Amino acid sequence: MSGEWRTDPDDWEAQDDHPVLRSSEGHWLSLTRRGVLKGGLGLAAVFVGGCAVTGGARPRIGFTPLPAQTDPGFDAVRVPAGYRAVPFYSWGDPIDAEAPRWRADAGNDWRDQLRQAGDNHDGMHYFPFADNPNGHGLLVINHEKVATDFLHPRGATVLHDEQGRPRRPGEEVNKELAAHGVSVIDIAKNRDGQWRRIMTSSYNRRISGLTPMILSGPAAGAEAMRTASDPTGRRVIGTFANCALGYTPWGTYLACEENWPNYFVNRDAEDYPRRPQQARYRVSQGERSNYYSWETVEPRFDATPDHSRPHQGEVNEPNRFGWVVEIDPFDPNSTPVKRTAMGRLVRECATPSVADDGRMAFYFGDDTRGEYIYKFVPRDRYRADDPGANRDLLDHGTLYVAVFHDDGRGEWRPLRHGQGPLTAANGFPDQAAVLINARGAADLLGATRMDRPEWVAVRPGSREVYVTLTNNDERGVDNGPPVNAANPRPRNLHGQILRWRERDNDPAATVFDWALFLLAGYPAGGEAPVHQWGSIQGDLFSSPDGLWFDPAGRLWIETDYDDQSPDHQAMGTNQLLCADPDSGEVRRFLVGPRGCEITGITGTPDGRTLWINVQHPGISYPASDGRTRPRSTTVLITRDDGGEIGT
Ligand code: FEO
Ligand code: CA
Ligand code: CA
Repeated sequence: MSGEWRTDPDDWEAQDDHPVLRSSEGHWLSLTRRGVLKGGLGLAAVFVGGCAVTGGARPRIGFTPLPAQTDPGFDAVRVPAGYRAVPFYSWGDPIDAEAPRWRADAGNDWRDQLRQAGDNHDGMHYFPFADNPNGHGLLVINHEKVATDFLHPRGATVLHDEQGRPRRPGEEVNKELAAHGVSVIDIAKNRDGQWRRIMTSSYNRRISGLTPMILSGPAAGAEAMRTASDPTGRRVIGTFANCALGYTPWGTYLACEENWPNYFVNRDAEDYPRRPQQARYRVSQGERSNYYSWETVEPRFDATPDHSRPHQGEVNEPNRFGWVVEIDPFDPNSTPVKRTAMGRLVRECATPSVADDGRMAFYFGDDTRGEYIYKFVPRDRYRADDPGANRDLLDHGTLYVAVFHDDGRGEWRPLRHGQGPLTAANGFPDQAAVLINARGAADLLGATRMDRPEWVAVRPGSREVYVTLTNNDERGVDNGPPVNAANPRPRNLHGQILRWRERDNDPAATVFDWALFLLAGYPAGGEAPVHQWGSIQGDLFSSPDGLWFDPAGRLWIETDYDDQSPDHQAMGTNQLLCADPDSGEVRRFLVGPRGCEITGITGTPDGRTLWINVQHPGISYPASDGRTRPRSTTVLITRDDGGEIGT
């Protein structure tokens, strides 16, 4: 059997190596999950069988896996024999030929930083040019956050005023705002077949925490979106906390806003719990914001109500973050648009799934312990023949939240004002209120609390959907959510990958069937505590985060765990693994430098070029000389023989 997806569910059962059976009710049930349900923590008996049946076809994964990298001083990127991995685009690199060079002492000021690569590279996507798709494209890269220790010459400065309150220097705050956001870089293969940046291209662009943007969709202009600085509720400055991503078939990039609640503070402890759009999202409460204290320089980050000002000052500013930001990389003069119809979350990604007839879904999780998985189904179909018709497609549609029943069935419940409990009496007077407090709306709909949903990947051909649930140490303990079939381990340190299939493969379906793909963690029956036992068939890892299907249907898994913690000692540094979705086999393809997270992944349509991101390396990568300050870096991966990666 080849790796091609078959559209008949019976074929899926036959292909799938985790024995997936029809239950008596006729839906899907994996032995893995059923075993957990039956046996509680008796996991050793659960993870049975699972050999690949590939029917004589070429094995999907062909490289020799790497050992875990446990050296405490490891400061490089390593890939299997026959491959090379080279730094391609690092924090501080000039965005174009006119921009200033990076200074190794971090002496570039904030104006320089606006024209240089941002920090903490995360999700990214390669947009090919039609006339040379495998040799020329735009690489679009998120810059999620900043490593203040390295961004500034001597780390972050925190001063104190006469009352002892913290103050940040404006220059540093501006540099941090400038180092967030997105890069668009024009790249091409030269005559020698080597990838290079086209430094003179007008497509090269930085978008940052200081870039003007538009709010559109049902929540734009709502009273809860208006501030003293923007009484229209339709204009917003900047994007940040851009973690994972999405893209559209019409060639736009979707930067997603993840950990924005940490950038704002409401200092009024009595007011705070009365604002679900702050409290339910855990906007910082106290003297200062959780992350960088930008509010000490930029008043819009101070979300404390000021009743003497219009719209209570900037109290609504946090409501203008947590959205999907649509960016047209092919129009460097375009204004990014925050699409409110897709809901406000601590959003990881917005992964598209497109049916043959143009019906679509975008899948995303809300990455906080116990939060939910959602999808957005646009009202209208994608029109390949009429680009103008797609321009505002993301402004109209239905936001759904997922319920994972323990028997393997799933449901999508709509977040629609006026339907079910989403009424004015329950705090949802209109659709804007539903979208701005999507978490609260999903609570009322009985959504299933998940173990920190990170990336979603849609399998080419089949549209089967995979999601990483990275970990959740609150699962099954104290006030945390109890274990359930989709989140089966208490004190879940290592995470799992879950997959589902929409009814009739229809992205707009409201029911689906789900199963666990794997539980990360140590081999069952070994020395690790039972709650750390997993079901990996192959190389050890924890905390799956980045997730991506290459064009040939290999599933690439990126990790984000604390490589200093005793629970992860044997796993070494963070890594990129390659999985066969049919056999379940997992092989370690790349190990990163100590201290980093491996995230972001994209490639060319021919599968011969791959890019990944090394986020916040800890020692001196990419210089790897033990002296130079470390820089988040996009890494270019190719094969020495120019062949397809992973085979
Ligand atoms: Fe920025 Fe959920 O990772
Ligand atoms: Ca992530
Ligand atoms: Ca993570």
